Amino acid sequence: MQTHTTQAAPVGSGKTHAKVIVLGEHSVVYGNPAIAFPVLSLELEAKVTVSGEGHRVITPFHSLDRETAQTVELERKLSEIALSNTLEFLEEAPSGIEVRVSGLIPPARGLGSSAAVAGAIAQAVSRAYGRELSRDERFELVQSVERVAHGTPSGLDAYATTEAGPIWFEKGEAKPLRVLSEPRLLVADTGIVGHTAEAVRRVRALHDENPPRVEALLAEAAQLAQDAGTDLAEGDHERLGAKMDRNHEILRELGVSADPLESLVKASKDAGALGAKLTGGGLGGCMVALVGSERDEHTVRNALLSAGAKNVWPVHKEQS
Ligand code: PMV
Repeated sequence: MQTHTTQAAPVGSGKTHAKVIVLGEHSVVYGNPAIAFPVLSLELEAKVTVSGEGHRVITPFHSLDRETAQTVELERKLSEIALSNTLEFLEEAPSGIEVRVSGLIPPARGLGSSAAVAGAIAQAVSRAYGRELSRDERFELVQSVERVAHGTPSGLDAYATTEAGPIWFEKGEAKPLRVLSEPRLLVADTGIVGHTAEAVRRVRALHDENPPRVEALLAEAAQLAQDAGTDLAEGDHERLGAKMDRNHEILRELGVSADPLESLVKASKDAGALGAKLTGGGLGGCMVALVGSERDEHTVRNALLSAGAKNVWPVHKEQS
Protein backbone atom coordinates (compact mmCIF):
# COMPACT_ATOMS: atom_id res chain seq x y z
CA MET A 1 0.00 0.00 0.00
CA GLN A 2 1.30 3.45 -0.87
CA THR A 3 2.41 5.42 2.17
CA HIS A 4 3.46 8.64 0.48
CA THR A 5 2.33 11.58 2.63
CA THR A 6 2.49 15.36 2.49
CA GLN A 7 5.19 15.56 5.19
CA ALA A 8 8.61 17.01 4.31
CA ALA A 9 10.49 13.71 4.28
CA PRO A 10 8.93 11.31 1.74
CA VAL A 11 8.31 7.76 2.94
CA GLY A 12 7.36 4.62 1.08
CA SER A 13 7.26 0.88 1.56
CA GLY A 14 7.34 -2.23 -0.59
CA LYS A 15 6.72 -5.91 0.13
CA THR A 16 7.89 -9.09 -1.56
CA HIS A 17 8.20 -12.74 -0.54
CA ALA A 18 10.30 -15.85 -1.11
CA LYS A 19 9.57 -18.24 -3.96
CA VAL A 20 10.03 -21.93 -4.50
CA ILE A 21 10.63 -23.50 -7.90
CA VAL A 22 8.63 -26.71 -8.10
CA LEU A 23 9.85 -27.68 -11.56
CA GLY A 24 12.28 -26.37 -14.17
CA GLU A 25 15.18 -24.47 -12.55
CA HIS A 26 18.27 -24.31 -14.76
CA SER A 27 16.32 -25.60 -17.74
CA VAL A 28 14.41 -22.26 -17.57
CA VAL A 29 17.69 -20.42 -18.32
CA TYR A 30 17.58 -22.11 -21.78
CA GLY A 31 14.08 -20.81 -22.56
CA ASN A 32 12.19 -23.82 -21.18
CA PRO A 33 9.15 -23.52 -18.87
CA ALA A 34 9.26 -23.52 -15.07
CA ILE A 35 6.66 -23.55 -12.30
CA ALA A 36 7.09 -21.50 -9.12
CA PHE A 37 4.98 -20.92 -6.02
CA PRO A 38 5.16 -17.95 -3.62
CA VAL A 39 6.32 -18.70 -0.07
CA LEU A 40 4.10 -16.23 1.71
CA SER A 41 5.37 -17.20 5.17
CA LEU A 42 8.76 -15.65 4.25
CA GLU A 43 8.13 -11.98 3.58
CA LEU A 44 10.35 -8.92 3.19
CA GLU A 45 9.45 -5.29 3.64
CA ALA A 46 11.56 -2.30 2.61
CA LYS A 47 10.82 1.09 4.16
CA VAL A 48 12.29 4.29 2.83
CA THR A 49 12.78 7.63 4.48
CA VAL A 50 14.53 10.54 2.82
CA SER A 51 16.41 12.97 5.02
CA GLY A 52 19.93 13.94 6.08
CA GLU A 53 22.97 13.17 3.97
CA GLY A 54 24.45 10.08 2.33
CA HIS A 55 22.51 6.92 1.44
CA ARG A 56 22.13 4.02 3.83
CA VAL A 57 20.67 0.54 3.32
CA ILE A 58 20.03 -1.50 6.46
CA THR A 59 19.41 -5.20 5.76
CA PRO A 60 18.35 -7.92 8.21
CA PHE A 61 21.08 -10.35 7.16
CA HIS A 62 23.56 -11.53 9.79
CA SER A 63 26.84 -13.30 9.26
CA LEU A 64 27.59 -16.29 11.45
CA ASP A 65 30.53 -17.67 9.48
CA ARG A 66 32.94 -16.64 6.72
CA GLU A 67 30.92 -18.06 3.85
CA THR A 68 27.68 -16.45 5.06
CA ALA A 69 29.59 -13.22 5.68
CA GLN A 70 30.51 -13.08 1.97
CA THR A 71 26.87 -13.67 1.06
CA VAL A 72 25.72 -10.95 3.43
CA GLU A 73 28.24 -8.56 1.93
CA LEU A 74 26.99 -9.40 -1.58
CA GLU A 75 23.33 -8.90 -0.53
CA ARG A 76 24.26 -5.51 0.93
CA LYS A 77 25.93 -4.47 -2.33
CA LEU A 78 22.95 -5.70 -4.34
CA SER A 79 20.61 -3.66 -2.11
CA GLU A 80 22.69 -0.55 -2.79
CA ILE A 81 22.59 -1.24 -6.54
CA ALA A 82 18.79 -1.68 -6.33
CA LEU A 83 18.55 1.70 -4.61
CA SER A 84 20.80 3.56 -7.05
CA ASN A 85 19.21 1.96 -10.16
CA THR A 86 15.74 2.90 -8.92
CA LEU A 87 16.77 6.51 -8.20
CA GLU A 88 18.35 6.73 -11.64
CA PHE A 89 15.18 5.35 -13.24
CA LEU A 90 13.06 7.89 -11.32
CA GLU A 91 15.53 10.68 -12.18
CA GLU A 92 15.71 11.61 -8.50
CA ALA A 93 18.94 12.66 -6.77
CA PRO A 94 18.15 13.13 -3.08
CA SER A 95 20.91 14.12 -0.67
CA GLY A 96 20.09 11.37 1.82
CA ILE A 97 17.99 8.24 1.74
CA GLU A 98 17.61 5.43 4.25
CA VAL A 99 16.19 2.05 3.26
CA ARG A 100 15.43 -0.37 6.07
CA VAL A 101 14.71 -3.95 5.00
CA SER A 102 12.92 -6.13 7.55
CA GLY A 103 11.61 -9.70 7.61
CA LEU A 104 13.88 -12.45 6.49
CA ILE A 105 14.39 -14.61 3.45
CA PRO A 106 17.62 -16.50 4.09
CA PRO A 107 20.11 -15.27 1.47
CA ALA A 108 21.68 -17.66 -1.06
CA ARG A 109 19.30 -20.55 -0.38
CA GLY A 110 17.52 -20.73 -3.74
CA LEU A 111 14.52 -18.84 -2.34
CA GLY A 112 14.93 -15.73 -4.49
CA SER A 113 16.31 -13.50 -1.73
CA SER A 114 18.26 -11.15 -4.05
CA ALA A 115 15.26 -10.60 -6.35
CA ALA A 116 12.95 -10.11 -3.35
CA VAL A 117 15.24 -7.50 -1.78
CA ALA A 118 15.61 -5.64 -5.09
CA GLY A 119 11.86 -5.77 -5.77
CA ALA A 120 10.92 -4.47 -2.31
CA ILE A 121 13.48 -1.64 -2.53
CA ALA A 122 12.41 -0.62 -6.06
CA GLN A 123 8.77 -0.47 -4.98
CA ALA A 124 9.45 1.37 -1.71
CA VAL A 125 11.73 3.98 -3.29
CA SER A 126 9.34 4.76 -6.14
CA ARG A 127 6.41 5.04 -3.75
CA ALA A 128 8.45 7.49 -1.68
CA TYR A 129 8.41 9.68 -4.79
CA GLY A 130 4.72 9.15 -5.49
CA ARG A 131 5.32 6.72 -8.38
CA GLU A 132 3.72 3.28 -8.63
CA LEU A 133 5.94 1.11 -10.83
CA SER A 134 4.25 -0.90 -13.54
CA ARG A 135 4.81 -4.68 -13.53
CA ASP A 136 7.29 -4.30 -16.43
CA GLU A 137 9.19 -1.40 -14.83
CA ARG A 138 9.64 -3.30 -11.59
CA PHE A 139 10.68 -6.43 -13.50
CA GLU A 140 13.37 -4.47 -15.37
CA LEU A 141 14.73 -2.92 -12.17
CA VAL A 142 14.93 -6.30 -10.44
CA GLN A 143 16.60 -7.84 -13.49
CA SER A 144 19.25 -5.09 -13.49
CA VAL A 145 20.23 -6.25 -9.98
CA GLU A 146 19.87 -9.96 -10.75
CA ARG A 147 22.31 -9.58 -13.65
CA VAL A 148 24.92 -8.44 -11.13
CA ALA A 149 23.97 -11.31 -8.78
CA HIS A 150 24.17 -14.10 -11.31
CA GLY A 151 24.94 -13.02 -14.84
CA THR A 152 22.15 -14.40 -17.01
CA PRO A 153 18.99 -14.56 -14.86
CA SER A 154 15.97 -16.09 -16.59
CA GLY A 155 13.66 -13.52 -14.94
CA LEU A 156 11.71 -16.20 -13.07
CA ASP A 157 12.75 -14.92 -9.62
CA ALA A 158 11.82 -11.32 -10.47
CA TYR A 159 8.19 -12.34 -11.06
CA ALA A 160 7.93 -15.20 -8.57
CA THR A 161 8.94 -12.99 -5.62
CA THR A 162 6.20 -10.44 -6.35
CA GLU A 163 3.25 -12.42 -7.75
CA ALA A 164 0.81 -13.56 -5.05
CA GLY A 165 -0.03 -16.89 -6.71
CA PRO A 166 1.73 -19.74 -8.52
CA ILE A 167 3.21 -18.87 -11.90
CA TRP A 168 4.05 -20.51 -15.18
CA PHE A 169 7.22 -18.86 -16.52
CA GLU A 170 8.56 -19.27 -20.03
CA LYS A 171 10.83 -17.15 -22.25
CA GLY A 172 10.73 -14.08 -20.03
CA GLU A 173 6.94 -14.13 -19.52
CA ALA A 174 5.06 -15.05 -16.34
CA LYS A 175 1.42 -16.16 -16.35
CA PRO A 176 -0.80 -17.17 -13.44
CA LEU A 177 -0.94 -20.95 -13.16
CA ARG A 178 -4.29 -22.72 -12.83
CA VAL A 179 -4.23 -25.08 -9.85
CA LEU A 180 -7.23 -27.28 -9.02
CA SER A 181 -6.22 -28.01 -5.41
CA GLU A 182 -3.30 -26.44 -3.55
CA PRO A 183 -0.35 -28.85 -3.38
CA ARG A 184 1.00 -29.25 0.15
CA LEU A 185 4.64 -28.19 -0.20
CA LEU A 186 7.38 -27.99 2.42
CA VAL A 187 10.63 -26.11 1.85
CA ALA A 188 13.64 -27.28 3.88
CA ASP A 189 16.94 -25.45 4.29
CA THR A 190 20.21 -27.40 4.38
CA GLY A 191 21.72 -24.40 6.18
CA ILE A 192 24.46 -24.40 3.57
CA VAL A 193 24.97 -21.48 1.23
CA GLY A 194 23.90 -22.24 -2.34
CA HIS A 195 25.83 -20.94 -5.36
CA THR A 196 23.47 -20.01 -8.16
CA ALA A 197 25.99 -18.21 -10.37
CA GLU A 198 28.47 -21.08 -10.06
CA ALA A 199 25.73 -23.68 -10.68
CA VAL A 200 24.54 -21.86 -13.83
CA ARG A 201 28.18 -21.76 -15.03
CA ARG A 202 28.60 -25.49 -14.38
CA VAL A 203 25.53 -26.40 -16.40
CA ARG A 204 26.80 -24.16 -19.23
CA ALA A 205 30.25 -25.81 -19.08
CA LEU A 206 28.69 -29.29 -19.13
CA HIS A 207 26.57 -28.22 -22.09
CA ASP A 208 29.64 -27.00 -24.00
CA GLU A 209 31.44 -30.24 -23.18
CA ASN A 210 28.60 -32.57 -24.18
CA PRO A 211 25.77 -30.74 -25.98
CA PRO A 212 23.63 -33.79 -26.96
CA ARG A 213 23.58 -35.16 -23.40
CA VAL A 214 22.73 -31.84 -21.75
CA GLU A 215 20.18 -30.92 -24.38
CA ALA A 216 18.43 -34.26 -23.84
CA LEU A 217 18.30 -33.60 -20.08
CA LEU A 218 17.00 -30.05 -20.58
CA ALA A 219 14.37 -31.26 -23.06
CA GLU A 220 13.22 -33.87 -20.56
CA ALA A 221 13.00 -31.24 -17.80
CA ALA A 222 10.95 -29.05 -20.16
CA GLN A 223 8.52 -31.90 -20.83
CA LEU A 224 8.23 -32.61 -17.08
CA ALA A 225 7.28 -28.96 -16.42
CA GLN A 226 4.79 -29.02 -19.28
CA ASP A 227 3.11 -32.19 -17.95
CA ALA A 228 3.27 -30.96 -14.34
CA GLY A 229 1.18 -27.95 -15.43
CA THR A 230 -1.54 -30.44 -16.44
CA ASP A 231 -1.16 -32.37 -13.16
CA LEU A 232 -1.68 -29.16 -11.18
CA ALA A 233 -4.67 -28.14 -13.29
CA GLU A 234 -6.19 -31.59 -12.69
CA GLY A 235 -5.15 -31.80 -9.01
CA ASP A 236 -3.16 -35.00 -9.54
CA HIS A 237 -0.47 -34.64 -6.87
CA GLU A 238 0.82 -38.21 -7.12
CA ARG A 239 1.77 -37.67 -10.76
CA LEU A 240 3.21 -34.25 -9.89
CA GLY A 241 5.37 -35.83 -7.17
CA ALA A 242 6.82 -38.40 -9.59
CA LYS A 243 7.82 -35.55 -11.92
CA MET A 244 9.54 -33.69 -9.09
CA ASP A 245 11.53 -36.85 -8.31
CA ARG A 246 12.68 -37.16 -11.93
CA ASN A 247 13.47 -33.45 -12.12
CA HIS A 248 15.73 -33.88 -9.10
CA GLU A 249 17.60 -36.73 -10.83
CA ILE A 250 18.10 -34.50 -13.87
CA LEU A 251 19.45 -31.68 -11.69
CA ARG A 252 21.80 -34.16 -10.04
CA GLU A 253 23.00 -35.29 -13.49
CA LEU A 254 23.55 -31.64 -14.39
CA GLY A 255 25.92 -31.46 -11.42
CA VAL A 256 24.05 -28.96 -9.23
CA SER A 257 23.05 -31.14 -6.27
CA ALA A 258 25.08 -31.54 -3.08
CA ASP A 259 25.25 -34.17 -0.30
CA PRO A 260 23.12 -32.23 2.22
CA LEU A 261 20.41 -31.81 -0.45
CA GLU A 262 20.56 -35.53 -1.25
CA SER A 263 20.14 -36.39 2.47
CA LEU A 264 17.04 -34.19 2.81
CA VAL A 265 15.50 -35.47 -0.43
CA LYS A 266 16.02 -39.07 0.72
CA ALA A 267 14.72 -38.41 4.24
CA SER A 268 11.52 -36.83 2.93
CA LYS A 269 10.92 -39.63 0.43
CA ASP A 270 11.52 -42.30 3.08
CA ALA A 271 8.99 -40.50 5.29
CA GLY A 272 6.31 -40.65 2.59
CA ALA A 273 6.70 -37.50 0.47
CA LEU A 274 5.02 -37.83 -2.94
CA GLY A 275 7.96 -36.04 -4.55
CA ALA A 276 11.13 -34.19 -3.55
CA LYS A 277 13.83 -32.20 -5.25
CA LEU A 278 16.38 -29.47 -4.76
CA THR A 279 15.02 -26.02 -5.53
CA GLY A 280 16.69 -22.91 -6.98
CA GLY A 281 20.30 -22.74 -8.11
CA GLY A 282 21.54 -25.67 -5.96
CA LEU A 283 25.04 -26.65 -4.73
CA GLY A 284 23.51 -26.03 -1.28
CA GLY A 285 20.43 -24.07 -0.29
CA CYS A 286 16.97 -25.60 -0.11
CA MET A 287 14.89 -28.55 -1.23
CA VAL A 288 11.13 -28.85 -1.67
CA ALA A 289 8.93 -31.82 -0.77
CA LEU A 290 5.34 -32.49 -1.82
CA VAL A 291 3.17 -34.27 0.75
CA GLY A 292 -0.26 -35.78 0.37
CA SER A 293 -1.99 -35.01 3.68
CA GLU A 294 -1.73 -33.01 6.88
CA ARG A 295 -0.58 -36.14 8.73
CA ASP A 296 2.17 -36.81 6.17
CA GLU A 297 3.18 -33.17 6.46
CA HIS A 298 3.98 -33.62 10.17
CA THR A 299 5.86 -36.89 9.52
CA VAL A 300 7.90 -35.46 6.64
CA ARG A 301 8.63 -32.25 8.51
CA ASN A 302 9.98 -34.23 11.50
CA ALA A 303 12.03 -36.46 9.21
CA LEU A 304 13.58 -33.41 7.53
CA LEU A 305 14.49 -31.86 10.88
CA SER A 306 15.98 -35.16 12.11
CA ALA A 307 18.02 -35.39 8.88
CA GLY A 308 19.61 -32.01 9.62
CA ALA A 309 17.31 -29.40 8.03
CA LYS A 310 17.97 -26.05 9.69
CA ASN A 311 14.43 -24.85 8.96
CA VAL A 312 11.29 -26.19 7.35
CA TRP A 313 8.67 -23.78 5.99
CA PRO A 314 5.21 -24.59 4.70
CA VAL A 315 4.50 -22.88 1.41
CA HIS A 316 1.21 -21.48 2.69
CA LYS A 317 0.66 -19.79 6.02
CA GLU A 318 -2.46 -21.81 6.83
CA GLN A 319 -0.54 -25.09 6.51
CA SER A 320 1.81 -24.34 9.41
O1 PMV B 1 18.92 -19.73 -6.60
P1 PMV B 1 17.86 -18.78 -7.05
O2 PMV B 1 16.78 -18.52 -6.07
O3 PMV B 1 18.44 -17.48 -7.58
O4 PMV B 1 17.14 -19.48 -8.34
C1 PMV B 1 17.88 -19.68 -9.51
C2 PMV B 1 17.07 -20.35 -10.58
C3 PMV B 1 17.87 -20.70 -11.84
O5 PMV B 1 16.96 -21.33 -12.76
C4 PMV B 1 18.98 -21.70 -11.53
C5 PMV B 1 18.50 -19.46 -12.50
C6 PMV B 1 17.51 -18.56 -13.19
O6 PMV B 1 17.97 -17.47 -13.59
O7 PMV B 1 16.34 -18.91 -13.40
